[in-house]
Amino acid sequence: MYTYNSFVIEDCDISRLTEAIAVDEMRHMWWLADLITKRGGRPSMELGEVEYVGEDIKEGLERQIEKETEGIEEYERQIEIIDDDEVVGVLRHIVDEEKRHRKEFRERIARL
Ligand SMILES: [Fe+2]
Ligand SMILES: [Fe+2]
Repeated sequence: MYTYNSFVIEDCDISRLTEAIAVDEMRHMWWLADLITKRGGRPSMELGEVEYVGEDIKEGLERQIEKETEGIEEYERQIEIIDDDEVVGVLRHIVDEEKRHRKEFRERIARL
């Protein structure tokens, strides 16, 4: 989602930010895949519904903020029920980064 969005967002600063956050999300995927495979699992690459940004940049940023919030809520649910210190540590770190992403997107909306 972010990779594609960074290609089509015309505002340079917002496009570069979205691209940098796409790289963070790729790291999150690596960390999670590593935790899963170390425990004998096989990560799923099944994609949920991907929503790309349209012409309206504010709407696109709002959607990206919603996705970050959904991610934060899901990771926080998992932190509550997972009994594995290493996994919980990684999830907490990811939650911090998702909160930073959300803050960055909110700041861009405020500047529009
Ligand atoms: Fe992420
Ligand atoms: Fe994020």
